[in-house]
Amino acid sequence: MKFTLTEEHKLIQEAARNFAETELLPGIIERDDNQQFASDKVKVLGDLGFMGLMVDPKYGGAGMDTIAYVLAMEEISKIDASVSVTMSVNNSLVCWGLETYGNEEQKQKYLTPLAKGEKIGAFCLSEPEAGSDATSQKTTAEDKGDHYIINGTKNWITNGKSAGVYLVIAQTDAQKRHKGINAFIVESDSPGISLGPKENKLGIRSSETYSIMFADVKVPKENRIGEDGFGFKFAMKTLSGGRIGIAAKALGIASGAYELSVKYSKERKAFGAEIAKHQAIQFKLADMATQIEAARLMCFKAAWLKDQHQDYDQASSMAKLYSSEVAMATTVEAVQVHGGYGFVKDFHVERLMRDAKITQIYEGTSEIQKIVISRGVIKG
Ligand code: CAA
Repeated sequence: MKFTLTEEHKLIQEAARNFAETELLPGIIERDDNQQFASDKVKVLGDLGFMGLMVDPKYGGAGMDTIAYVLAMEEISKIDASVSVTMSVNNSLVCWGLETYGNEEQKQKYLTPLAKGEKIGAFCLSEPEAGSDATSQKTTAEDKGDHYIINGTKNWITNGKSAGVYLVIAQTDAQKRHKGINAFIVESDSPGISLGPKENKLGIRSSETYSIMFADVKVPKENRIGEDGFGFKFAMKTLSGGRIGIAAKALGIASGAYELSVKYSKERKAFGAEIAKHQAIQFKLADMATQIEAARLMCFKAAWLKDQHQDYDQASSMAKLYSSEVAMATTVEAVQVHGGYGFVKDFHVERLMRDAKITQIYEGTSEIQKIVISRGVIKG
């Protein structure tokens, strides 16, 4: 067991930190206020290789492992959790899903531009009546021989407007329930696709979240991923890895708030001393540091299992469950450490507190993670 990072890991971590501090920090409060998607920043992220971090270089990726991905997600999320969700969905849901289960033609045509950051991907599973209960898909994909016709509505879709490629999960044969579900690669400019209004959110306000309507959208049969009926397993396997990305994102939100709290507590004076000298603040910092360290180790463990091709379903759910709770608890305490200043936007911790909440909800709520974990526990 080794607790040290390789030189390559340290370089990725440093590159992500530099990018976040120099490119993402300027203008972040305004982007959050105006719900402005940072398309120019995402483009640079792609040029630097962060949009296809784990993808094989032969498909335009950076060829890194999942540990590198966790490190990069933590650093980007410390500053900008809106940009990091775009990065996370593109890397671990869309690129990983295509690279692992797509055929060669699909990879050449769709994975390469996504891994290079020339296109952005979105993962379309959730529906108005199918969030946690993901097998209850109402969107249909009717088999018409050489093509499918997709009808239905997808909800809460990250990158909904800017994505060039959607991975869409839809029901082909309702009699077969989840075994009749398929996953499709759908080009976002296909006729019949329209968007609802942009969601006005509590947190990650500069990320794009849209409903997407599909009305008689024609998708060629060669755009189905895997065998007929593989779509639900595709979604579940892909989400298992996605949850490592969201866990790392939650870790970054927590560690960002913690670092700001340490800095502030050494500068701010009260009762004749820096507040870091008061035990009331010291104990908060100690709790934050301990929980963040545990969350980080859980993220690394899940990433390591994935890199070793071992079962990581339970570990990724544990990492997401714990890290998202640490993100929420840490950011609430970070606002408290900052006092009145924490309640205003200039000090960043109120934004991190708002951003933390979604990590307990998307890519499977905390309650869904407990279902996955407890099933693993009982199965043994
Ligand atoms: N790997 C492979 N197969 C899996 C699997 C996994 N990790 N998990 C489940 N399956 C398979 C099961 O084996 C079963 O197949 P068989 O019948 O052939 O054995 C099938 O899937 C159905 O599974 P269950 O019987 O367990 O289904 P369920 O309805 O009881 O529960 C669930 C499944 C775990 C609750 C699932 O519905 C779930 O994960 N829900 C949460 C959905 C979610 O995470 N949504 C996130 C939206 S995407 C998003 O947020 C992206 C974004 O934009 C940020």
